[in-house]
Amino acid sequence: MLQTIKDFHATFFGKFTPRAYDKSAGRNGQRDFWRKWRKSYPRFPSIPLDKGQIPTVVERLLEDRSSNRVFSPQPLPLSKLSGILGVCRVFDSDRIPERRGYASAGATFPLEIYIVSFATTGLTPNMAFHLEIDGMELEEMWGNQIGADFRSVLPDYIENAAAAVVMTTVISRSEVRYGAKSYPFSFIEAGLLGQNIQLAATSVGVGSCMIGGFPNDFLTKALDLSEDEFPIMVIALGELGSSAK
Ligand SMILES: Cc1cc2nc3c(=O)[nH]c(=O)nc-3n(C[C@H](O)[C@H](O)[C@H](O)COP(=O)(O)O)c2cc1C
Repeated sequence: MLQTIKDFHATFFGKFTPRAYDKSAGRNGQRDFWRKWRKSYPRFPSIPLDKGQIPTVVERLLEDRSSNRVFSPQPLPLSKLSGILGVCRVFDSDRIPERRGYASAGATFPLEIYIVSFATTGLTPNMAFHLEIDGMELEEMWGNQIGADFRSVLPDYIENAAAAVVMTTVISRSEVRYGAKSYPFSFIEAGLLGQNIQLAATSVGVGSCMIGGFPNDFLTKALDLSEDEFPIMVIALGELGSSAK
């Protein structure tokens, strides 16, 4: 397994030369941190597109999608959580390889989903679950209420999260086939599934926020992940109320 971002960069892009990055400059500093850079070719002729002429279902969901960090204190109904997690299921198990709602390099499907529920109706608070995607069941993990600790590792600015989705990769499933490329493949697949989860949440009026800043060690220990499995992404979920942001 690759150990550091340097190994990763060296493997895929050659010599690693990190660029100086002054985050402290902030919004009003010398570096315009929030400026959006886009490519444009104004010297070439351009053809205007019919924006919104044929609004697709996806486009309408994307219109409403955003990151929410302050949720309403009301619990998340299990029916909504089930609906959101539905995007992780196997859609066609008769097909070889099985078909899911997102693409996977070589259909190796290295991703696993865990849920930590803080306030979901019908679920014991602070319980960790593994999502079993064939029968679509939440498997209680050791009756172990890790949520109280878990809450303290979510950033302070996340308020009233009702549940957290933890996405991991069992890298060996893909590594045996793709070697070092299994790493970018897992990250790509996490992005595909993460977006599906966020769009499903949007469709049932549930707020969500991807969290990249979580301590790997804590999650690895709390979920008893094996040596070849590591966490990639956490997604906080919660009801949107008038106080939500
Ligand atoms: C890989 C990744 C990691 C992220 N990590 C965090 C995070 O740790 N905390 C946070 O508040 N938002 C996080 N976000 C959400 C971004 O801040 C957010 O998508 C961005 O500000 C654009 O806002 P929007 O999602 O509302 O359009 C993350 C997003 C991605 C894709």
